[in-house]
Amino acid sequence: MSFPGAVKIVEVGPRDGLQNEAISVPVEVKIELIDKLTEAGLAVVESGSFVSPKWVPQMAASGEVYRGIHKKPGVAYPVLVPNMQGLDAALEAGVEEIAIFAAASETFTQKNINCSIDESIERYRQVVEKALTENLKIRGYISCVLGCPYEGEVSFDSVADVAVRLLDQGCYEVSLGDTTGVGTPGKARALVEQLVDTVPVSQLAAHFHDTYGQGLANLHAVLQCGIAVIDSSVAGLGGCPYARGATGNVATEDVLYMLDGMQIETGVDMDKLLEAGAYISDFLGREPASKAALALQNRQ
Ligand code: HMG
Ligand code: MG
Repeated sequence: MSFPGAVKIVEVGPRDGLQNEAISVPVEVKIELIDKLTEAGLAVVESGSFVSPKWVPQMAASGEVYRGIHKKPGVAYPVLVPNMQGLDAALEAGVEEIAIFAAASETFTQKNINCSIDESIERYRQVVEKALTENLKIRGYISCVLGCPYEGEVSFDSVADVAVRLLDQGCYEVSLGDTTGVGTPGKARALVEQLVDTVPVSQLAAHFHDTYGQGLANLHAVLQCGIAVIDSSVAGLGGCPYARGATGNVATEDVLYMLDGMQIETGVDMDKLLEAGAYISDFLGREPASKAALALQNRQ
């Protein structure tokens, strides 16, 4: 069994987490959260989403948030972009990295971005071309890689096909989204084992939601396949507004506790991460959805 010596954690709480909150989180609170996360040593913090405010009102002020962040040298603050309109708004805000988001399921793609998979890839081609001329870095997402809330099973071939198309367009990395957390370790591992036939493992990331409590187990399985980039959400915030019942990503505190215990380097400081998680949980008026955070808080 071999594991990577170091893992990059991509913190998605301020985007994937807060996009799904029922109450509106003020710009200042989002900025403070993002600053606390970078203080904790996270080198990538997804800061917002330039999508339609009619579709996802919680992300409406992403430009203001982006402008207000106290940018730390060496830290990336990617934002989601669904189309040219989003790209133009992101460029106006001074964004340096974007994430485009596709899915391996037709129905989810329709529900999430109102087009087919092929149309989404074509739409992104134009977005990526312009983003590259503006020297932006581009990350890609694929949702529903281990199952779809509308279609059920999703074929690994379909995931591989979308992954290759996103990388060919110019994404430096593709993040594999288990959007509703339905995956289990054997399946997560089998998916990655198939993908690495066509895609370098160094260009894959794991973006697992913890809806069924499988998040850490699934991560442990794919770490053994060589995946060394993990998306997670502080305090386990989040879900997806177009996948009913989806809860948050696997919590960053839980991921860090596991990786620290395995002596896998992350550069993230647990105490400071706990502070960030406590800050947003206090604001939302609930306990963090992270077992490690709760246990460590109670010990202190
Ligand atoms: P549409 O309605 O087909 O768009 O939505 P349209 O081009 O026909 O435009 C309709 C209206 O939206 C127009 O306004 C546009 O200006 C406006 P109107 O003339 O009616 O006043 N509009 C925009 N406004 C602001 N920013 C924009 C923008 N684009 C159009 N960028 C669209 C298509 C893609 C825009 C819409 O479906 C959308 O915004 N979807 C986003 C859904 C979303 O954010 N989902 C959550 C993120 S994905 C996720 O969480 C999964 C992930 O975490 C991985 C995983 O877990 O699996 C990444
Ligand atoms: Mg997600």
